[in-house]
Formats: sequence, structure tokens, C-alpha cells
Amino acid sequence: MKISIENLDKTYQTAAEQLNILKNVNFSMEQGEWLTIIGPSGSGKSSLLQCIVGITSADPGSSIRLDELDLQHASSEEVLAFRRKRIGFIYQDYKLFDQFDALTNVILPLVPYEDKGALDKKGKELLEKVHLSDRIHHVPQQLSGGEKQRVAIARALINEPELLICDEPTGNLDEQNRDHIIGILSELNAEGKSIILVTHDKEVISSGQRLMMIQRGNLIEQQL
Ligand SMILES: Nc1ncnc2c1ncn2[C@@H]1O[C@H](COP(=O)(O)OP(=O)(O)O)[C@@H](O)[C@H]1O
Ligand SMILES: [Mg+2]
Repeated sequence: MKISIENLDKTYQTAAEQLNILKNVNFSMEQGEWLTIIGPSGSGKSSLLQCIVGITSADPGSSIRLDELDLQHASSEEVLAFRRKRIGFIYQDYKLFDQFDALTNVILPLVPYEDKGALDKKGKELLEKVHLSDRIHHVPQQLSGGEKQRVAIARALINEPELLICDEPTGNLDEQNRDHIIGILSELNAEGKSIILVTHDKEVISSGQRLMMIQRGNLIEQQL
């Protein structure tokens, strides 16, 4: 997926003030690139990831293009369908549904659209891929932080996305599971999938091909 971001601004309006978090962010990416984004806590990394795929709206005047999709001018149905078919998103806080088990969480985004039997099979394979075969029927409350994170990763892969957005995907993993997940991401990237990943982990940075840093609202390309 070709990504082209021009003049992206993001302002949060609270009762007390206007927070101009992102200022004139510009970058583009070719299909198959892996871009890592770093920056201090609260600098706007999660906001940027969410703006790029339309989960959060960028300010008017921002231009965000994902292949043929002009995000700022598309309808919300078009954006939803685009994300469902082509993007995987791993949230920093997982966003799992407490009432459903791991397998149901993984397949949930596609349950209204695809055959349940085929989805169950695919969901189990993905849980196996993240080493959770023995936790398929656990609900989130019965899972550790790292296990929940791996369920969230499996769910992000259920639609075989061309673009995978990862918000600190290894933040709660031990070294062994971190290396395993990075291995999976590296494999997907070698198959030609694009990755945008936010991390604090120095070990993870070297897996990507490009590095950018958010500093006072600006996104600045760094030497790797
Ligand atoms: N919905 C919101 N309303 C107001 N402020 C917000 C909202 N979401 C995030 N912020 C603020 O925007 C800043 C950037 O947040 P975030 O994108 O989560 O940063 P990061 O992921 O780099 O830690 C933080 O100061 C946060 O408090
Ligand atoms: Mg964040």
C-alpha cells in the first residue's frame, strides 16, 4: 500500500484548552516498507497511527492517502470497509472484548462477513502462530498482559492485511515472546506487507528499514 501524508495536523479540544499535538506532519511510504516511529510518552505517536488509518480524525486541511483512498474526503463507510479489508491495527491497550474468549476476539472483525467455520480454523491457526494454542477459550480476564497482547496481534492478522499498524506491540512481552513476535512481523514484511510500528524498545528499532521521531509535534526522519 502506498501511503502519502501531507500537512497532517491533529488538535484535541478539551474544556480547558486546545492541544495541538501534531504539526504539519509529512511523509510517504512505498508498499512493503517497515517504518518505525519513536518519541517521548505523550508526544502523539498513538494519535498519529490512529489518524493515518482514520480511527481518529485529523484536522481539516490534512491530506492522507492510502493507495486510491483519500481519507479526508471518503465516507465513513468507505473508510471502515478499507480498514476491514486491508489494514491490521494492534492497539497499545489491546481493545479486547471482555465477554469473549481469545478465539472469538480474534475472528470478531470478520464474523459478519465470512463463513464461521473457516474463520474458526483461521483464528486457531493464528493463535497457534503466536503460541497461544492452549489459551483459545480463555477470556481476557484469564490472560496475562503479554497473552492479551498476543491475542490482539492474532486479531490484527485475521484479514491478512497489506498494512499492519503496531502501537507498542511488544510493550508487555518478555524477551522470548518479543523476539518471536518480531520474527512474525519480519516474515510478513519479507512477504511484502507494509508495517508502521511505534516502540520504545531499542532491540525492535533495527528490524525496520526506516526510523522517524516525533519531537514537539513534528515527525523527523532519523538515520538508522
Ligand atoms: N481524546 C483526547 N482528548 C484530549 N487529549 C488527548 C486525547 N487523546 C490523547 N490526548 C493527549 O494527546 C497527547 C498525545 O497522546 P498520544 O497520541 O497517546 O501519545 P503517545 O502515544 O506518544 O504517548 C497526550 O498529551 C494526551 O494526553
Ligand atoms: Mg501511545
